[in-house]
Amino acid sequence: MITPPTSFVIPPARSVTDVPPVVEEVLAPEERADLIARIKMLLVEQDAVLVAHYYTSADLQKLAEATGGCVSDSLEMARFGHASKATTLVVAGVRFMGETAKILNPEKRVLMPDIHAECSLDLSCPSEDFSLFCDAHPDREVVVYANTSAAVKARADWMVTSSIAVKVAAYLKSKGKKLIWAPDRYLGDYVQKTTGADMLIWQGSCVVHEKFKAEGIRELKALHPEAAVLVHPEAPANVIDMADMVGSTTQLIRAAADLPNPTLIVATDNGIFHKMRQAAPGKTFLEAPTGGHGATCVSCAHCPWMAMNGLRGLCRVLETGENEINVDETIRAKAVVSINRMLEFAGQAGITVAGRSGD
Ligand code: 13P
Ligand code: SF4
Repeated sequence: MITPPTSFVIPPARSVTDVPPVVEEVLAPEERADLIARIKMLLVEQDAVLVAHYYTSADLQKLAEATGGCVSDSLEMARFGHASKATTLVVAGVRFMGETAKILNPEKRVLMPDIHAECSLDLSCPSEDFSLFCDAHPDREVVVYANTSAAVKARADWMVTSSIAVKVAAYLKSKGKKLIWAPDRYLGDYVQKTTGADMLIWQGSCVVHEKFKAEGIRELKALHPEAAVLVHPEAPANVIDMADMVGSTTQLIRAAADLPNPTLIVATDNGIFHKMRQAAPGKTFLEAPTGGHGATCVSCAHCPWMAMNGLRGLCRVLETGENEINVDETIRAKAVVSINRMLEFAGQAGITVAGRSGD
């Protein structure tokens, strides 16, 4: 723990060294079919709905859609879970997504296929350190990314997702506010450059997105001059500079369909290709280069924690009730304020599922 200073020149961030390897679930066709049949039955029996992120496996995404659940970005996952009438939400994603669902829906049971599914951004920002940082800058509005713990959200004025971060920062700037931003330094830089807001930025990063390489994209683009480059804003600035479109996962899928280019170079987790191929059939999708397999990236274009979600885990939690997410009520009651502020803002700004305004 750090000692309380009067001011922080560089915001602290815990370095995340313990990144697990990416382990994909491998299933024989009979086991897959059996698990899918059992899960479908259990979802009905338990009045449960599956809320999955785009980075989870194609099996989970297909199952969520086939059973009336949803596959989406983190903003829409929160909205869908909140609007759903189901009494159990099974969140296939990472822990902050399960916690957000519980914070918004304390009366619902929230389960996750794997309780160890973390996020390097969340891990980089322990709530005690973050709270001291905020205490040192009481004149600033505290804006945190969704990829944080419930306790960090409880310390914030606003929670935002990547699809709405720029709009919220621009709004706060127009009100004369100075900001604290945490935990993603690359998204923070992007928001700061786009809006010109005065921001003190926590120095966390996503272990997946920070490994995309501008030089590799330049080389790939030379081989495919017809391609457009799609980049998630958790990537470094020199990668963002190469983008034809920067946006949240939903916004990138939408762009894949809307852009006239027949080829897309994509700098985000490769789990997104399942939905992109559906949205833009016939187009060619290329993974943006990272450090390369066997090179410097710990996790080449796939989130090791998202990969922990599988059909076996999902079936087990529905059978046993294991991996239930609970959030301390004092923390929850504070955290819900920052989340609701964003949801209300999104509603007023007319921001749709795709993160666009006015359509
Ligand atoms: P989205 O809100 O764009 O889905 O991003 C969540 C995330 O964790 C990206 O790495
Ligand atoms: Fe977190 Fe990065 Fe994984 Fe998204 S891809 S959940 S930001 S570690």
